[in-house]
Amino acid sequence: MFKLIGVLIISYFIFFGIASATEISLGEAKSNLCANCHGLDGNSVFPLNPNLAGQNAEYIVSQLKAFKSGRRKNSTMETISASLSNDEMIALATYYSTQAPNIIKGDPLLLEKGKVRYSLCWSCHGDNGEGPGSYPRLAGQHSQYTVLQLMNFKNNFRINPVMNVIVAELNNDDMEALGAYIATLNPQKGFINLGNNSAW
Ligand code: HEC
Ligand code: HEC
Repeated sequence: MFKLIGVLIISYFIFFGIASATEISLGEAKSNLCANCHGLDGNSVFPLNPNLAGQNAEYIVSQLKAFKSGRRKNSTMETISASLSNDEMIALATYYSTQAPNIIKGDPLLLEKGKVRYSLCWSCHGDNGEGPGSYPRLAGQHSQYTVLQLMNFKNNFRINPVMNVIVAELNNDDMEALGAYIATLNPQKGFINLGNNSAW
């Protein structure tokens, strides 16, 4: 049984490793379209532009598709995603997911409150904000971007049946505190950097 699990895990990494080597370089080449706003390596310097470095690949693809279909609204991202094919989205997502995220510092005064409110979030986004697969990684995200998205969910400007319900019970202070707490969660914990690991 353990042997079988071992073989499955190793095959997963071999497959994923080969698949991503080509995709990472394709994605890197394409990422010059994105660098002005999301940073050269996906660590954005603008607090309302999300960091993409270390973000889960599956989640990045889902959001690019949501912008392209108009399900998620943002005029810039709607235009940009309209020019991307599915393969380009996968390549970009693979590239960004393997870039090392920076560690951001938050406002210490808000952290304690944010930590308490985060008890509403960890079941989906993970103890450390790492978010499995199709769920977004929150750890290390700019607090202003996180607050903006929580408000977007609250106003039903951004639609997700789960998040629209969760934020209903948060007030502005809760959102500020959560944004600060989430920004300081270590984004490198649980982060797999396939790009720099030559064994894969
Ligand atoms: C002119 C600035 C600009 C450019 C260029 C740009 N983006 Fe964005 N992007 C944004 C902004 C602003 C948002 C936040 C939208 C919102 O508030 O919902 C965003 C959001 C995103 C998101 C959602 C992230 C999340 O955490 O939900 C993804 C994924 C993304 N961009 C990928 C890309 C990719 C890939 C490119 C290049 C092909 C790109 N962007 C180019 C400004 C830009
Ligand atoms: C039951 C599962 C679940 C719970 C609990 C949950 N979330 Fe989410 N969250 C999601 C999903 C799924 C998405 C992706 C939505 C989409 O595709 O637009 C998301 C998206 C987000 C985003 C947008 C991220 C980005 O990069 O744009 C933020 C911010 C967020 N959640 C914060 C929170 C906070 C804070 C809490 C607790 C107060 C919380 N979530 C609780 C499932 C959950």
